[in-house]
Amino acid sequence: MGIRIIGTGSYVPERVLTNLDLEKMVDTSDEWIRTRTGMVERRIARDDETTSDMGTEAAKKALEMANLDPEEIDLIVVGTVTPDYRLPTNACLIQNKLKVGAAVCFDFQAACTGFVYGLEIVSALMKNNRAYKKALLICSEKLSSVTDWKDRNTCVLFGDAGGAVVFSKTTEVGDTILSSALHADGTHGDILSISGGGCHTPITEENVNDNTHCITMEGNKVFRLAVNAMVGACKEVLDLAHLSYSDISWLIPHQANMRIINAIGSRLAMPKEKVFINIEKYGNTSACTIMLALDELVREKKVVEGDKILITAFGGGMTWGATLLKW
Ligand code: ACO
Repeated sequence: MGIRIIGTGSYVPERVLTNLDLEKMVDTSDEWIRTRTGMVERRIARDDETTSDMGTEAAKKALEMANLDPEEIDLIVVGTVTPDYRLPTNACLIQNKLKVGAAVCFDFQAACTGFVYGLEIVSALMKNNRAYKKALLICSEKLSSVTDWKDRNTCVLFGDAGGAVVFSKTTEVGDTILSSALHADGTHGDILSISGGGCHTPITEENVNDNTHCITMEGNKVFRLAVNAMVGACKEVLDLAHLSYSDISWLIPHQANMRIINAIGSRLAMPKEKVFINIEKYGNTSACTIMLALDELVREKKVVEGDKILITAFGGGMTWGATLLKW
């Protein structure tokens, strides 16, 4: 029996926020944002649109592609740093919105590395327990809700989105996941954080006025760590699978910065046409960036059966990793 991804889905809100819009909000320019990040526009959720709404929409599309009814799902795992509530989890909210019925549901958090971590979590659970035959892995983020719209260092970078994949145990031999490498280093936790809202810095008027509920990032420090970490993780997963870069059809790096993506592509000597980039359309949607990319490739039939897809991400924690997929 194999554990395979049989459906992908993604969702982005309708509202588009362009670099020109941002010029009117903070001291920045379209030229700075394009040349430093590669971003041109990003999507921003409506006030009444939540992370679980976006995750639910993405999941519906993934289920449709998989040709499954929601009741067939036994396990829902959601990666997010911007859940609707502290309690209940987004996984339970989505279970209810999709009308899944009996299923095991929980959230986890690995920031931008959420999809890479989630792939390992879901496939390990499915391998370990016969009860899980069909599973949904969802990552969705409303980063606009934790963005300080007066801080030009961060507000130009992030967007909102949802992504989903459906896993199934199949009679075919072989798994979609060929190899994976996950890492974390808590010593750098402070360079990318949301300090407020937890028990350390609870929700008080003073803490909210200080914007502690918003993302802060020392971007240049993150940048320096990100490239080496992702290149190392990519090498690991290829070694584990006894494959080389020439076997790869697509490299999908986390879409946080065009310069980081280009640096990874050139360090791995990947031809430019094999490195997927859509950062100009959506900005950094945290764990969703790779899911948006994968769904786009699948729906545009740019991925065919047997293709090897190398994905890699880096995010708060710090967390990072890579996964090698065989479609
Ligand atoms: N517009 C104009 N100027 C700006 C802006 C802006 N939006 N933002 C920063 N600047 C200025 C800074 O103030 C600084 O000015 P100074 O030299 O007068 O002090 C100058 O630009 C350079 O700032 P740097 O931070 O050194 O700029 P850098 O080239 O590193 O680009 C960026 C910043 C885009 C954030 C980059 O560092 C980056 O992408 N880092 C990685 C982010 C990342 O990978 N995150 C992944 C995880 S995200 C997650 O987990 C949710």
